[in-house]
Amino acid sequence: MLDDPAALRAVDRSDMLHVLASLPEQVRQSAQAGARLQPRNRGPFKAVLFAAMGGSAMGADVAADWLARRAPLPCAVTREYDAPAWAGAGTLVVAVSYSGNTEETLACARAAKQRGAHVLAVTSGGELATWAEATGGDVVRVPAGLQPRAALGHLAFATLGALEAMGVGTVAKDAEGVAAHLERLRAQLGPESKEAQNPSKQLARALHRKVAFVYGAGPLAVAARRFATQVNENAKDLAHWGPIPEVHHNELSAWFADPRFRDLAVPVVLQGEAAGTPLGARERATVALMKEAGGKPWVLEAKGDTALARTFHAIYVGDYASLYLAVLLGRDPTPVDAIVKLKQRMAEFRRG
Ligand code: F6R
Repeated sequence: MLDDPAALRAVDRSDMLHVLASLPEQVRQSAQAGARLQPRNRGPFKAVLFAAMGGSAMGADVAADWLARRAPLPCAVTREYDAPAWAGAGTLVVAVSYSGNTEETLACARAAKQRGAHVLAVTSGGELATWAEATGGDVVRVPAGLQPRAALGHLAFATLGALEAMGVGTVAKDAEGVAAHLERLRAQLGPESKEAQNPSKQLARALHRKVAFVYGAGPLAVAARRFATQVNENAKDLAHWGPIPEVHHNELSAWFADPRFRDLAVPVVLQGEAAGTPLGARERATVALMKEAGGKPWVLEAKGDTALARTFHAIYVGDYASLYLAVLLGRDPTPVDAIVKLKQRMAEFRRG
């Protein structure tokens, strides 16, 4: 089925597979668009707060992780209505919302702005763009018309490019490396590549009617979260993720107690750190222990010259796998009816 183009098209009715193929171009285009920003405020900033939800928050996570490992200033991601009390004068608030209309993101950015923070909005438009422009903030626009989660390349790299324009970090070289790496990978993961050679199709098959438990260490924790959320939204299936090393201090215990989990759950371990390093040793120990517990861990080897390239390698394998899983389950990946319904119910409950 996964090797039959007509069967893929019959389920993937809005052609999310085609949009996913554009990830390398998204990376290039939006890194450049972000870098062209002429900021109204160049800081210097004392801290960076990313405010975002859902698919847009994955873009924020990628940017924040990159920044935290390189830039000598504190940064955090919040998925809340409220901004932390420290976010005020001297803070750069990066509000990432694809639609520009997500109420939590808007509320958080407004709260920090009221306390004197500067706002950088990364969005395709909406209220966020209008408000930020009208109140002295900076705005980087990404192309409209996509599902937010399908615009990850735009959101992450427009953010990183704009941060570079504001004097916070330098990402240009890494962006080109990521785009070139993803271009090479696309041929192996895309729909034309047969299941026998296609790691994403094989992963989808392994997860069919199971629950994915995805684990990632260091920068790959972002990719683990992304994979679980893509399974949720594209395949409309449950999935769980956890960061290594934290899960070694709690969740790991559960794999050894109850044999039911061996049939129900598939551990997916993202592996990208060099052997002999603390995180590399933890990745390998995770796989070894899972096997000893009688489980069948799926090892997703994240390759690439930089941490960002390895993160996007894992993201690309996982994104394609989530779409193939959607096809196996007969669920159109694009619509997210439950999220739309939730937003409508929220409006009802707020009216009281
Ligand atoms: C939909 C998706 C959602 C949205 C979230 C926030 O594709 O991924 O998780 O990202 O509802 O909306 P935006 O991204 O417009 O701020």
